[in-house]
Amino acid sequence: MANKDKQPKYDKIEELAKRRGFFWQSSEIHGSVAGFYDYAPIGAAIKRKWENLWREYFLQDDNFYEIEASNIMPQPVFVASGHLESFVDPIVKCKKCKHTERADQILEEELKEKFEGKTPEELLEVIKKHKIKCRSCGGLLEETGILNMMFPLNIGVGKNVVTSYLRPETAQSVYVNFSRNFNVLRKKLPLGLAIIGRAYRNEISPRNALLRMREFTQAELQIFFDPDNIEKHENWDEVKDEKITYMPANGKEQKEVTASALSKDLPKFYVYHAVFVQRFFLDVLKIPKKYFRFRELSKEERAFYNKYHFDVELLLDRWIEVGGVHYRTDHDLSGHSKVSKQDLSVQVGDKKVLPHVLELSFGVDRNVYSLMHIFYGEEEQGEKSEGRAVIRFPRKLSPFDCAVFPLVNKDGLNEKAKEVKILLQSSGFSVFYDDSGSVGRRYRRIDEIGVPAAITIDYDSMKDNTVTIRDRDEMKQIRVKVKDLPEKIKQFLEGKRIEDLQ
Ligand code: GAP
Repeated sequence: MANKDKQPKYDKIEELAKRRGFFWQSSEIHGSVAGFYDYAPIGAAIKRKWENLWREYFLQDDNFYEIEASNIMPQPVFVASGHLESFVDPIVKCKKCKHTERADQILEEELKEKFEGKTPEELLEVIKKHKIKCRSCGGLLEETGILNMMFPLNIGVGKNVVTSYLRPETAQSVYVNFSRNFNVLRKKLPLGLAIIGRAYRNEISPRNALLRMREFTQAELQIFFDPDNIEKHENWDEVKDEKITYMPANGKEQKEVTASALSKDLPKFYVYHAVFVQRFFLDVLKIPKKYFRFRELSKEERAFYNKYHFDVELLLDRWIEVGGVHYRTDHDLSGHSKVSKQDLSVQVGDKKVLPHVLELSFGVDRNVYSLMHIFYGEEEQGEKSEGRAVIRFPRKLSPFDCAVFPLVNKDGLNEKAKEVKILLQSSGFSVFYDDSGSVGRRYRRIDEIGVPAAITIDYDSMKDNTVTIRDRDEMKQIRVKVKDLPEKIKQFLEGKRIEDLQ
């Protein structure tokens, strides 16, 4: 997946995203505000595919469900969750121009080390030691402080104003709904409640397109369980020998250990779900193993609500956090009980339990961007290729299942191509239809957006009712009968090689 020139891959992806309709900055015609992005049709299709794969995979359990909830929540929610007090970022200000940045981020970028969890004072010391200057004017960085990252809102008018916030994570929407859902569902633990929805953070330095936004989509699953059962999982035997790749807290080298070995230090319920998450990335999203790892966070680095915290990281030009496996204990339900004065413990059989929470959390936009970055490649001109850019998305994640082209837009080929398109659509496939420009140009377009198969209708199709299927990756072609197309495309999307479809 090499790149032929020196233009940074981030710039190439952003340029491609604009040119082919993945995403671009929001409200562009009025001058955009950093950290807000809109999805165009290709990007929106990939995002929907990612979300549906996530649903299919994480909500397999009979007692796991998806819910939807308001994005705006009143202040007591965040007093209870601890966000009002603790959801803060360390900042540093330039004495001369007042430019403000996240202190840990400046250091991470300048010194290529992690600085999560350090106090503003500790960060300032490192800034001074390394003589790091303001990146806007070169002035002295001297003042530090903290900034709450939530967006406040006033709801209503006059004396009825209610101070509220845009939720900074979907998780809180689940916790405030836990009791009611438990009672209308099967009154059983573990209970999984998921939300795919928006989260909002007043990031001080939004950057790298979809990687650090101020409004973004999370896919989060909160698993409520009885803490007395933390040392087991009914499917433990299925995962115990599986190897997990992770960077230990404060470690210098990645490790690969079995789930059994990891369960000597961490509860089995936690380790089981870490394996489950790893399988999602390796088996469902088909991320090559070398681009995936967990990172264990130390006590200082962990989010304020977590007892155990592994980030999920993907390797772009550096390791990027795209998700996390969080053991939040009873931190949230206890907090909400206390502030709302409602007992959120539940009766399970003859036992009263205040459930603990294991959270599987993912940033959808970060995932979408990272997949584009990982699967994007450029091929030199050569025997096999005229030279092209291609995104080798896993087949099930591509924006369209296949493309349909008439070789030329005349002699009835276009009508025949439309028939083929309708046949495939009515069989449930998403189809990209294109009859403009040369076939070569059309191939280049679908390669760049990652469509895995192209079906071309040519003059032979008019005689014998056959079409060609071209595989995006190998650029090999086979000829099949139109009536067999839906079955062949189905098998192709399930992973069959093009030559085995003949
Ligand atoms: N409920 C737990 C939680 O919100 P988090 O690590 O703060 O944990 C979860 O966020 C995921 O959301 C991250 O792993 C990341 O993928 C995504 N995320 C966080 N901040 C983001 C931002 N500013 N822009 C895009 N994605 C973000």
